[in-house]
Amino acid sequence: MEIPKAFEPPPRRLMGPGPSDVAPAVLQAMSRPLVGHLDPAFVKMMEEIKAMLRQAFLTQNEMTFPVSGTGSAGMEFCFVNLIEPGDEVIIGVNGVFGTRMCDVAERCGARVTRVEAPWGNIIEAEQIAVALGKVPKPKLVAIVHAETSTGALTPVEEISRLVYQAGALFLLDAVTSLGGCPVRIDEWAVDAVYSGSQKCLSCPPGLSPVSLSPRALEIATRRKTKVQSWYLDVNLLAAYWGQERVYHHTAPISMNYALHEALRLVLTEGLENRWHRHEQNHLALRSGLEAMGMKIMSQAGHQLWQLNAVSVPEGVDEAAVRKQLLATYNLEIGAGLGPLKGKIWRIGLMGETSRKENVDAVLAALREILKG
Ligand SMILES: Cc1ncc(COP(=O)(O)O)c(C=O)c1O
Repeated sequence: MEIPKAFEPPPRRLMGPGPSDVAPAVLQAMSRPLVGHLDPAFVKMMEEIKAMLRQAFLTQNEMTFPVSGTGSAGMEFCFVNLIEPGDEVIIGVNGVFGTRMCDVAERCGARVTRVEAPWGNIIEAEQIAVALGKVPKPKLVAIVHAETSTGALTPVEEISRLVYQAGALFLLDAVTSLGGCPVRIDEWAVDAVYSGSQKCLSCPPGLSPVSLSPRALEIATRRKTKVQSWYLDVNLLAAYWGQERVYHHTAPISMNYALHEALRLVLTEGLENRWHRHEQNHLALRSGLEAMGMKIMSQAGHQLWQLNAVSVPEGVDEAAVRKQLLATYNLEIGAGLGPLKGKIWRIGLMGETSRKENVDAVLAALREILKG
């Protein structure tokens, strides 16, 4: 075959559901020379990543580190370590990712009770209370904090209180929320949380920050059956990410350089400032869309700042608009998934992408395209 030319990515504004734009400093960090994954310099950097992740998650949990893999690996990490066959699990399902959690939990042999809400709505605490009343000895309750497929942000505190009272573990998907809006792992008594590098942390996809409370860790270490996944077994991973530094797998070195730099940027900006920036840009986008007669379909009062699920106006070919945005404006937005396919656009304002200039660019482009 003829060897292709070196790949030159087109210059895009990444305004979809992730990945988001990455800061030049993060890209530069990725291009630094490799060191070995057990090199003392790398080990020191791993410790810094763990410490910065604790700050980003607002937790003191010792077991906080990035799983090598995308957000779905973090999801599997939480379920495979905490669930044994026959365990009762309650999962909030209001979009794609709650649905995925059910699939993962079932593969671990869990008996899953689904607490469903229409896509675009939140999971109400009362629904969880009803399920906790019905399910005998629930081991774990899981919800998606920020449902990227629908743009809804489910409030955590009340649900967490109910789960704690029931003596169950509380698992939170913070893939899209971390770095874009408040995520308070210790204050909310979350036992297990996973996130992703490519959303509001603005790092390329490839790592999944996770954190387990001491209670969750004890359950994972004292299980009766072996964790089904060798790769994701926290008992083995702890020896690599903990003090022993025993080889488990070859950590993706450059990805960890990138996460280190991305977390430095997050903490330099400050969590509160970063949340505020996400809120302001969401409000600016929402009012711009409303001025054009469009609206966000997610439940009022619970709309995500970092992911805007916009109803496609009547009679508009949603795919053609996305195509034109990409081809003419180099601007990527996302399509609806599942029952929302063809009905919504998903405009991401995550991390580096959450800038006034991007809000103005997408509004101006939509204005031009829609006026025909
Ligand atoms: C809320 C949520 N959970 C889980 C995932 C899965 O993450 P990944 O695609 O990085 O595997 C995503 C990805 O979009 C997500 O938005």
